[in-house]
Amino acid sequence: MAKVSIIGAGMTGSTTAHWLAEREIADIVLVDIIEGMPQGKALDLTEAMPVIGKDAKIFGSNDYADTKGSDIVIITAGLPRKPGMSRDDLLVTNAKIVADVARKTLEQSPDAIYIVLTNPLDVMTYLTWKVTGLPTYRVVGQAGILDSARMRAFVAMETGVSVENIHCYVLGGHGDDMVPLTRHSNIAGVPLYKYLPEDKLAAIVERTRKGGGEIVGLLKKGSAFYAPSAALAQMAEAILKGKNLIVPATAYLDGEYGMHDIFIGVPTMLGRKGVEKVIEYELNDEEMAAFQKSAAHVKSNVAKLSEFGLL
Ligand code: APR
Repeated sequence: MAKVSIIGAGMTGSTTAHWLAEREIADIVLVDIIEGMPQGKALDLTEAMPVIGKDAKIFGSNDYADTKGSDIVIITAGLPRKPGMSRDDLLVTNAKIVADVARKTLEQSPDAIYIVLTNPLDVMTYLTWKVTGLPTYRVVGQAGILDSARMRAFVAMETGVSVENIHCYVLGGHGDDMVPLTRHSNIAGVPLYKYLPEDKLAAIVERTRKGGGEIVGLLKKGSAFYAPSAALAQMAEAILKGKNLIVPATAYLDGEYGMHDIFIGVPTMLGRKGVEKVIEYELNDEEMAAFQKSAAHVKSNVAKLSEFGLL
């Protein structure tokens, strides 16, 4: 059985373990700094396995030695947003946590593929890559599946069509300036703009951009975790099974879309190597300008990390 270690056994980390255990594709190690919590959640999940008839092994720990030999390391450790906070407000605190986690896990699993979730996501993915010194294809961030899934859910609510028929693509950094690509999105091959009037589509784009904040506002403490963790599980599955699944994810660009030295949300092909390929959509001028604006934002956050001596 493959081994997946999830660092940060909070809401997102433990729910990822849940989705993964249901898939029965890996043994799972949950690690957190809080004593007893990952052990308790792992035991609870272990006791659910007979009910759902799965033989996944789930183990909780405060010790990185237990992550040894992982095929995949998922990083969800860090603080979530509170109402009124942007993802950028978490930058310095979470950078220290993510850098520490990246170093400690790499010692145990030098061959692992890293999937990063902690916010601000694009910068934390860049940081993980820098700290681990891994080839770029072995580090990827989760945001695009989530942002696209939010858009798909909103389109399904508006049209009543099955979510399975709805294909949406969101590019760019995981922030309010992300770029929902309405021109490339479709319902069973029919472009979205043919299904929905302009004002409805514009409202969906806006709600997608602010989707994370909408949930933070409702929950009051903590941020979304069901959809983010479902996305993490889908990415881990695509990698472990070598599916070559095309999904939006935060990947390193070395000339694609005319950008260099940046991790940002783009369509990727996920397979056994990690990011097998970055796929380049043909963007029109307006889409490219929005993508570049989002990239500039990500780059300015990376520069802030350098200023604070964290890179
Ligand atoms: N090592 C291991 N675990 C840590 C560390 C660390 N150095 N620092 C914090 N943690 C743990 C916390 O103890 C907590 O259990 O990370 C966990 C985070 O879980 P939650 O607080 O429930 O947050 P969650 O909603 O899962 O979000 C985690 O994902 O979506 C992003 O913005 C969100 O950055 C945040 C991350």
